Amino acid sequence: MQFQWYPGHMTKAKRQMQEDIKLVDLVIELVDARIPMSSRNPDIDELGKNKARLILLNKADLADDRQLEAWMNFFKEKGYFAVRLDARSKAGMKNVQNVIMDACAEKIERDRKRGIKNRPVRAMVVGIPNVGKSTFINSFAGKACAKTGNKPGVTKGKQWIRLNKGVELLDTPGILWPKFEDQSVGLKLALIGSIKDEILNIDEMSLELIRFLQERYKELLTARYEGIDVDAKPVEILEQIAELRGCIKKGGDIDYTKTANLLLDEFRSGMIGRITLELPEDYR
Ligand code: G4P
Repeated sequence: MQFQWYPGHMTKAKRQMQEDIKLVDLVIELVDARIPMSSRNPDIDELGKNKARLILLNKADLADDRQLEAWMNFFKEKGYFAVRLDARSKAGMKNVQNVIMDACAEKIERDRKRGIKNRPVRAMVVGIPNVGKSTFINSFAGKACAKTGNKPGVTKGKQWIRLNKGVELLDTPGILWPKFEDQSVGLKLALIGSIKDEILNIDEMSLELIRFLQERYKELLTARYEGIDVDAKPVEILEQIAELRGCIKKGGDIDYTKTANLLLDEFRSGMIGRITLELPEDYR
């Protein structure tokens, strides 16, 4: 499969982020909990060096519980603060506030020693498209938020959302670009719906998904598509799902693309179950 990206556009975004990061104490990076590494761009480590770092494993509602724990430990071992989150339902949101204070404890202490009191921690949200940055900012800020901006010491035009006495958040997130080191990263991004389906081969993707589910989540596959032979070839499984769901064209031929779309939709919306597509041990 071929993927395209737009370096010109992204160079501008990167420059903007370099400027914004200078203004904050903490970088809050959202990743997709189903593919915590493939949904990151490692360039953020360079951009965010010398800043406190928090990784939010978002869409935790769609990810495998056991793997969520393993990924949390993975990131903590590497020196990040980490929280699992469902930004849509707001589960885990309270914890974020506490961990932000933990992550910035050193900075708060430094301020205290210099006699600076009550200077809020400043943070910005970053992440690749579609990981839930806007959803997070909206649910975190809630209705009670007051926008601050254009006051002395605030760069003109920057809008900060005051979350509470202790924290201010830059209201626009920094958009990182996905990094396709290899085909498997691109495939995983495509499977979770991060890359527009129009440029992808849906049929091929659905077969890759079936292959993966056969390997790691066989029981979920049988539970969702009753009566299929989970040990059959991926294409045969796709055909069985087609029959089961009536994805048949006039004349009786199997509608592969319709079946592939159905499978991908059910995977993306969590109907097959909570599934994580990559494991920490693949990256150790
Ligand atoms: P972005 O700013 O990083 O680009 O992402 P955005 O907040 O727009 O979220 C992208 C999609 O992911 C949205 O769905 C959003 O509802 C969904 N989302 C965000 N956080 C979570 C989460 O924790 N769990 C789940 N399951 N979904 C989440 P959408 O289909 O584009 O819109 P809609 O379904 O909300 O209408």
